[in-house]
Amino acid sequence: MTLPVAVLVSGRGSNLQAILDACASGALDARVVYVASNHAGVPALDRAASAGVPHGAFTVADFGSRAAAQAAMAEAVMRTDPRLVVHAGFDHILGPEYFVRLGGTPVINVHPALLPLFGGRGMYGVRVHESVLAAGATESGATVHRVHPDTIDLGEVVVQRRVPVLSGDTPEMLGARVLEQEHIAIVEAIRRFVPATTPLR
Ligand code: GRF
Repeated sequence: MTLPVAVLVSGRGSNLQAILDACASGALDARVVYVASNHAGVPALDRAASAGVPHGAFTVADFGSRAAAQAAMAEAVMRTDPRLVVHAGFDHILGPEYFVRLGGTPVINVHPALLPLFGGRGMYGVRVHESVLAAGATESGATVHRVHPDTIDLGEVVVQRRVPVLSGDTPEMLGARVLEQEHIAIVEAIRRFVPATTPLR
């Protein structure tokens, strides 16, 4: 059965693109049914439009508060009846009003480090890679994990892919190496949620 997936984004959308490409090529038996952003006018929404996927922006400016924006976003997402919600470069912490509306729909997130290392509040974007280098770690990677209410980067790991830290790495160089693995990990992780069409023997 083709898995209907909703994707939450905030910016560039390269992880979204990896998902769209995997669906289009048949590598992943899933379909992106909706893309929601907390920022208007971001490249990720253009990627959704180019792929013909319904999409919307839910900004604090339009809705008056972060809670109201997140509630409206969750309602729009659930109207498309996804069986999985993927946070792919989504940069807000989601409150209870979001999770209540999602019901029991599973949620996963991609993080650019080997959780539980280098996760938690304030650990996003280039800061993650700066911290990995400052700690003298010899490897980093990408983690896709379950998301639960009121936690940051703490849910069960679904897929993890490792990369070496190389001498002379800048945060940007390390980040680019990790991002390649994010694109693979996010597709692998979604595949875990695709129901088998025939029972396993
Ligand atoms: C990724 O590194 C993701 O792990 C992080 O933000 C970045 C988003 O990239 N949370 P993109 O928007 O998918 O290109």
